[in-house]
Amino acid sequence: HNHIDHATPESVLAAIAAGDTGAKIPDYQRFDAYRAGGGYEKLGQLRAGGNWEATLETVFSAGLRGLGGAGFPAGRKTGFVRAEPAPRYLAVNGDEGEPGTFKDRFHLERQPHVFLEGMLIAAWAVEATRCYIYMRDEYPAILKILAREIAALEQAGIISQGYVELRRGAGAYICGEESAMIESIEGKRGMPRHRPPFVAQVGLFGRPTLVHNVETLHWVCRILRDGPEIMSSVHHNGRVGLRNYSVSGRVRAPGVYELPAGSTIAEIIDAAGGMAEGHRFKAYQPGGPSSGLLPASLSDVPLDFDMLQPHGTFIGSAAVVVLSDQDSARDAALNMLRFFEDESCGQCTPCRVGCEKAVKLMQADHWDQPLLEDLCQAMADASICGLGQAAPNPIRLAMKHFPDEI
Ligand code: NAI
Ligand code: SF4
Repeated sequence: HNHIDHATPESVLAAIAAGDTGAKIPDYQRFDAYRAGGGYEKLGQLRAGGNWEATLETVFSAGLRGLGGAGFPAGRKTGFVRAEPAPRYLAVNGDEGEPGTFKDRFHLERQPHVFLEGMLIAAWAVEATRCYIYMRDEYPAILKILAREIAALEQAGIISQGYVELRRGAGAYICGEESAMIESIEGKRGMPRHRPPFVAQVGLFGRPTLVHNVETLHWVCRILRDGPEIMSSVHHNGRVGLRNYSVSGRVRAPGVYELPAGSTIAEIIDAAGGMAEGHRFKAYQPGGPSSGLLPASLSDVPLDFDMLQPHGTFIGSAAVVVLSDQDSARDAALNMLRFFEDESCGQCTPCRVGCEKAVKLMQADHWDQPLLEDLCQAMADASICGLGQAAPNPIRLAMKHFPDEI
């Protein structure tokens, strides 16, 4: 599953033009419609004489944080990259591989130009020589949409030919880790690099690289077009701003819900139409499998960055999966570890061997908890990247909250 992507933009575009993806294109906002509504005016103004530091201040004042999952303050990386010598690159992480996460897809299938304008503004701010969009291949319709709309931007003279390159991922979860993504774009096997140095200093082709998630750039555009107040004026449960929660599992209406940041699981289930018929709320995954499972008794925790630390987990990309009394927390945790075992790039022993060992131990009738805890500690302490470091979370949370099942 580790992939070597030697695809050139030409081969990508030819494959897409030949229609071999078989993807049905949803009804989305095309270039002309977006432009007619004032789209790309902000980019034009900034390029004509905007101040990048003032622009960054606006993004800071909205409180935007990186929405790939880590929540790093969104504007800070711009400053880091800009401080490095040119040439600099921008790489967009569209490899949305976190099970349960589909917010980037939601935005791209509706308003791709909000994201594209945000990306070009970020590229302007760091004077990027080129932009690379690394897009999940399991989103064939989006590949078509982006290929078509990038061509429209070239035709309109908003970007020069080849300024934005579209690259296809090949289904490896680890290629969503930013340095593995960069390796993959460079045509190598996607394996995370050690850091430091951070990609802001040594990124794509050894150059300073600004890496952002799709949704972060979507919000950069909305904040600059509509004002930072669209985020900063929303206050809820002691938190500020808006979040797009991807909600699935045992709810009546799974989907992406734009709600105040810090909404609780109870509020999120309500927004998703309540529990599915015949299901009683039991547990939830707050932010992808690496966030593990929390019990229904923790229904009042604001689901925002930093708020889940006291509970030994994190909100990540807000991939909320709701489980019911008909689901086994033990099976769900085992399934999460099987996923990590399969997706581990295999580069470091604590993760490669640790995930495999954990799966074996979790299949036993009774979990050997001291041994599992030792294993969790070794994985968390000694794995190179977030996959191996966070893989113990589902195990630890299952031991803490669902002792009857293990
Ligand atoms: P991180 O916190 O290590 O880094 C976040 C970003 O800040 C990176 O771009 C990093 O380069 C930058 N950064 C951090 N410190 C820096 C410094 N001192 N100087 C310059 N740049 C710095 O988190 P990481 O490992 O990049 O991401 C982990 C998150 O990814 C998890 O929270 C998880 O939820 C999420 N994730 C999301 C997926 C998705 O499909 N959206 C899939 C898998 C994981
Ligand atoms: Fe690869 Fe796992 Fe090590 Fe990350 S922690 S570098 S995925 S083996």
